[in-house]
Amino acid sequence: MNRRQFLIGAIGAGLVTTFLLKPSDSGASYSPYFKELNDELMENGPYKPSMVVDLDRMNRNIQHLLQGLSPDLHYRIVAKSLPSPELLGHIMKEAETNRLMVFHQPFLSHIAEKFPKSDVLLGKPMPIKSAEIFYSSFSNSSGFDPSRQLQWLIDDRERLVQYRELARELEIKMRVSIEIDIGLHRGGLQSPDELAPLLDIILANPDRLELGGFMGYDPHVVKLPKIVKSAEQAYAESQQIYQGFLDLVKIQYPQIDIAELCLNGAGSPTIALHKKETVINDMSAGSCLVKPVDFDIDTLQEFLPASYIATPVLKKADSMTIPSLESLKGVLNWWDPNTRQSFFIYGGKWMAKYESPVGLQESGLYGTSTNQQLVTGSGKIDLDVDDHVFLRPNQSEFVFLQFGDLLTVKDQKIVGRWPILKQ
Ligand SMILES: Cc1ncc(COP(=O)(O)O)c(C=O)c1O
Repeated sequence: MNRRQFLIGAIGAGLVTTFLLKPSDSGASYSPYFKELNDELMENGPYKPSMVVDLDRMNRNIQHLLQGLSPDLHYRIVAKSLPSPELLGHIMKEAETNRLMVFHQPFLSHIAEKFPKSDVLLGKPMPIKSAEIFYSSFSNSSGFDPSRQLQWLIDDRERLVQYRELARELEIKMRVSIEIDIGLHRGGLQSPDELAPLLDIILANPDRLELGGFMGYDPHVVKLPKIVKSAEQAYAESQQIYQGFLDLVKIQYPQIDIAELCLNGAGSPTIALHKKETVINDMSAGSCLVKPVDFDIDTLQEFLPASYIATPVLKKADSMTIPSLESLKGVLNWWDPNTRQSFFIYGGKWMAKYESPVGLQESGLYGTSTNQQLVTGSGKIDLDVDDHVFLRPNQSEFVFLQFGDLLTVKDQKIVGRWPILKQ
């Protein structure tokens, strides 16, 4: 090969590489669903970043969750994943359940007041001071009776002793549920051998303590790489571990009636597995009802996304211009057709993915902002100032709390403004 042929070859290879790496136009306008939502928000929206919850879709998810559920398996709503009293009330009614799982002391205090008939299980062990704060601010005017309707979560003997002391000091009775590790390794009792010291304390203090049941959470089952273990195998193992704890109770503590205990487990990722066969009688799930991005997993395929961040476009320009790189504007816009329009949106930097219009993206060169985020898109995107950009939250428990009242919609029309749970 002579020098000329080499140069032509190198230039050709460079052009092919450039062609292959050059981003293609990924823009598209609103789907009919988001067009209708945008029309409604332009007409009746609050013109600030908002969390929109689609009640039609959520109700379908509730029905899907309940479909084929054995009457022996009770549904418990995970409150942290749906953090609004009205939202919880709506789901309690639709799903005909009064069972809630709570993870935060202020939420617990609020729920005890707002839902006097609820049955509450803590989803994590609370510092003893949190429990003390709960009782010191609790007035039983609503009718909620913590000694019957609340189960604190206990993960070891030391914490149980703290709770016993508090119960003695306050002259009350506390129900406790024991956290067991069924493979997640996030704390709790590691093996049935650790049970006896706790059960002995509970049984020796019948005026102060009562065993509510067990809690074993298993999301790891569907998260392990398939090459390590199949979901079915991991599920069977976690069930076996759970059963091991129950067997010990059966054999060594025949005075405890297992059928009367609350045997809690599951979570959105594993409800489908528990619906087929399970050792638990109390199944908790929350996120699947609004299905944020992190729940796009095989076991939840039939659930529909039901929550979106909607935020107005504040400013629009023909192309993206980077400070101090103004002269490169033409090259940048030629290189990536998805930068041919730029928009500044109201707020930004949420844990969320851009959903509609399709093809919006942030610029690594421009950076991020919680105040006015720059997003760019191709010329195919039909979006103007005061239109809305829609994002899908990655998860609900924290993101839902960032926008004030939830905007609930039915048929793409706003039907409610539901306050979030107080912090
Ligand atoms: C103890 C426990 N149970 C159940 C869940 C499931 O909640 P979700 O269905 O919202 O994933 C969680 C989530 O963190 C949890 O910690």
